Amino acid sequence: MSSQRTIYTNEGKPWIAIAGEVHNSNSSNVAYMEEVWNQAELLGMNTLLLPVSWELVEPQEGHFEFQLVDALVEQARAKGMKIIFLWFGTWKNAQCSYAPEWVKKDLVRFPRAQVEKGKNKITLKNFYGMSYTTLSYLGEETKKADAKAFTELMKHIKSLDEKEHTVIGVQVENETGLQGAAREHSDLADTAFADQVPQALVDFIKANTSTMEPLMKNAALAGAAGGTWTEVFGAVAEEAFSAYYIASYVEQVAAAGKAVYELPMTVNCWLDKGEEAGKYPSGGPVAKVMEIWKFAAPSIDAFAPDIYVQNFHEICEQYQKLDNPLVIPETAVHSYVAPRMVYCIGHYHSACFAPFGFEDMGQPFNAMQAGLFGVDVSDPLLQKPQSPMEYGWCSRTLHCMMDLLASKYGTSDLQAVISEKMDMSPLDMSKGMAGMMAGNPENDTMMFGTFGFKAVMNAPMIQRKDGVCLIVKESEDTYYILINGSLLAMFSVDPEKPNYDIIALEEGAFEDGAWKAGRRLNGDEAASLIFDDYTLLKLKVFTYA
Ligand code: DGJ
Repeated sequence: MSSQRTIYTNEGKPWIAIAGEVHNSNSSNVAYMEEVWNQAELLGMNTLLLPVSWELVEPQEGHFEFQLVDALVEQARAKGMKIIFLWFGTWKNAQCSYAPEWVKKDLVRFPRAQVEKGKNKITLKNFYGMSYTTLSYLGEETKKADAKAFTELMKHIKSLDEKEHTVIGVQVENETGLQGAAREHSDLADTAFADQVPQALVDFIKANTSTMEPLMKNAALAGAAGGTWTEVFGAVAEEAFSAYYIASYVEQVAAAGKAVYELPMTVNCWLDKGEEAGKYPSGGPVAKVMEIWKFAAPSIDAFAPDIYVQNFHEICEQYQKLDNPLVIPETAVHSYVAPRMVYCIGHYHSACFAPFGFEDMGQPFNAMQAGLFGVDVSDPLLQKPQSPMEYGWCSRTLHCMMDLLASKYGTSDLQAVISEKMDMSPLDMSKGMAGMMAGNPENDTMMFGTFGFKAVMNAPMIQRKDGVCLIVKESEDTYYILINGSLLAMFSVDPEKPNYDIIALEEGAFEDGAWKAGRRLNGDEAASLIFDDYTLLKLKVFTYA
């Protein structure tokens, strides 16, 4: 079901964005960014996700300013890094705070969304009493103006960067959707809502029910094969309507930009946590309406979840349906972030992994931010800060292995396991090897044909609980193993050759794409493969009768 591929490239080769997203305001100032680039470098990142906003790009209508874009690209080149720009246009967290003054002030030409008929344009008030307001997704003039600004941006990036290719992708808008109601309620919206659903959309929906989330699936199966939004989509009609119009809007913006410069384009998503639509931004690309987005926004290369919830892996699974490459543009910087990065690359073969606000990595847990990000704080491990040094080691290691890893994307030669998906109740060592081998093979064992590895993370001698293990099979008898917080066991299930011997086991690192051996591990070190620190190994084995 997973598409397991990267959408990014560098010099014609696949690029895995081992990335970070900066805090919202940092890329608005080049001098401020100097230190942020340094931090990213220490954290081993190869790509930064940087906001570029409509208000700064087009401060007056038709007058474009790209000095900031130029300077950010220069800074990236000086560090040998890549950029994915985030277009903060009509939507930023379902609001219009990044629209230019001339858009914000003209409420007639650029109408705001009405969450209640004829009422004020305020969708909600936040915790601090600040008004939330958003532009209407039915605003034709707004859509044209946004598409024009975005096109100018893409034209500029092309003229600046087509050869060097420092900018490898663009996110179109940021967390689209409508807060406060499942759909807009202007007269225009009411008329459109009472209208017929485009038949091509109905046909697409009917043909794609197998991948759908239960709510949408039930509605799609029970709904009419043509008719109004309510007739076709029943209980989810209002959200489906919003999704269709927002996706179509984003498509127009993205397609206009792609027509001048074809870079991979993504949209990110404020997830729904089971609330009713409008509590989370209705019509944004949540898994429930992904089929509608897929239909209405073909220029989008990946629907990308912003994951701050504890059921991280469930979300990753959801976002691989419909052949969607896994791009994680935002996730929390807490203690699981390094193992999650390793796992996302090793297991989901993700195109991008980026902790949000990585500038804070290593800082003590901040409950205010946890609230802001919607982090569920009931797991104490989530509150432990991530060591920046360890994160940097993981990023650099994965970056140096990129060619090998990318060549194995989409195949079973690249696998990973993580403590979060394992039974971590303390292992009873008195049962010896048999006890150690018990468990849940789906989550703790990596099989490469008839040869397998099990990463035991709940053994008493393993101190840490944030274990992860990624294994890539390079050739028939040779494996690279990135491991931490695990006891590594290996075995053969080949009935003809049930025994194995280690031929060579080395610690080491990749330099310029080539293996550079460190210690040769043998004797005591090879007899008990216990790793309580991040380590990269090269293993050569053989099996025999
Ligand atoms: C999700 C948004 O996409 C980010 O820009 C940022 O606002 C974070 N939430 C948390 O603050």
